[in-house]
Amino acid sequence: MLEQATELTNDGSEDLFDLITHEINERDGFISFERFMELSLYHPELGYYTKNIERVGKDADFITSVSIGKCYGLILAHHFAKVLETFFNSTEKVVVVELGAENGDLALDIMGEFSMLLSKNLFERINYIIVEPFSLKRQALRARLNSEGIGNISVISDLKEENNLYGVLIGNEVLDALPFRRVRFRDKKWMELGVGINRNGNKMKLIEAERRIQNDSLISRVVDFPKDLPDGFTAEVNINFEQLLSYIHSSFVKLEGYFVDYGSSHDELMDISRSNGTVRAYSRHQHVNNVLSSPGNNDITSNVDFDWFRASAETLGFITEEPIDQYRFLTKSAEQWLLCIEKSGDQSAKNMQLINQFKMLIHPSTMGRSFKVLKFRK
Ligand SMILES: C[S@@+](CC[C@H](N)C(=O)[O-])C[C@H]1O[C@@H](n2cnc3c(N)ncnc32)[C@H](O)[C@@H]1O
Repeated sequence: MLEQATELTNDGSEDLFDLITHEINERDGFISFERFMELSLYHPELGYYTKNIERVGKDADFITSVSIGKCYGLILAHHFAKVLETFFNSTEKVVVVELGAENGDLALDIMGEFSMLLSKNLFERINYIIVEPFSLKRQALRARLNSEGIGNISVISDLKEENNLYGVLIGNEVLDALPFRRVRFRDKKWMELGVGINRNGNKMKLIEAERRIQNDSLISRVVDFPKDLPDGFTAEVNINFEQLLSYIHSSFVKLEGYFVDYGSSHDELMDISRSNGTVRAYSRHQHVNNVLSSPGNNDITSNVDFDWFRASAETLGFITEEPIDQYRFLTKSAEQWLLCIEKSGDQSAKNMQLINQFKMLIHPSTMGRSFKVLKFRK
């Protein structure tokens, strides 16, 4: 095992830091980056995404299309309404399944718009299902939804509990938040890049550590990676897409699914301009230089490999489409809504606010180009 020079000290998140160092010691001085992310982001009580803090929004750590305002949910509702119509003939109840609902804003925005857009009869035939694996977040979501008084939104822990579903699935910025592995090209071989410990007297630091790849899925994933890259070239690999997609596949009879995220084609990710990979951490809208620093206090993410996601989906039998810019997707889906506003001449403050949000969502320099919509169906 080879230790690299990037490191950090424990600054304030003692419990999680202790837990991580303990586990590294138990596992012969190395844990995968995926395991580090699991503990840092999703430890049941101490993880960045599981503890009770504000993460998304302009006064928190990062913004998303959802946190810009109601416009995103409004447009998705218009788009989904058309898709759901095609399922109403086949089944009594249709569903909108959301992964990674965070505080429930998108669910409320979509259902709020559906309630105005659809007849009472059709609206009552929609079940909105939020899949939230973490208990503390489920509790917080249920409390929020109860206080808003919308009945047909449920929060479940696992999609495995559901079957025979007809409908749509949405995951906004979820794929990039799933724990991933890291690999590094060293001496003409791909090695796994994980996390180890550096000791200096009583002080411990988390550091990057390299090891021969032992995980079978990772071995078979890197087999086709280029071999003409510079020494030290680093990349991220998610080996869990297929598992996530297999639950989705077995729950739905008919599905139109959408993951919206930042990402790249596999070739773009293997370009030497990206020789350090795309992994990054954020806190309070700032880039955190060292992704291993302060576990539990930063968001950790990387660009999604869209080709790999599509290949994983197609292996299971899904039909996938080329990812398109959020700009193109939203502009097309918003056509009817924009025409209605134009025809009515309604320039109320509420409409103007929505139009401003729309501009932000589609602007090429903000979210319009960096986010892509990945559509798949069964
Ligand atoms: C970057 S946040 C996006 C939140 C929200 N969708 C938005 O756009 O504002 C990623 C979310 O995905 C959730 N998440 C991660 N893994 C998940 C999984 N396996 N199933 C459902 N949600 C998951 C996290 O807890 C977090 O709420």
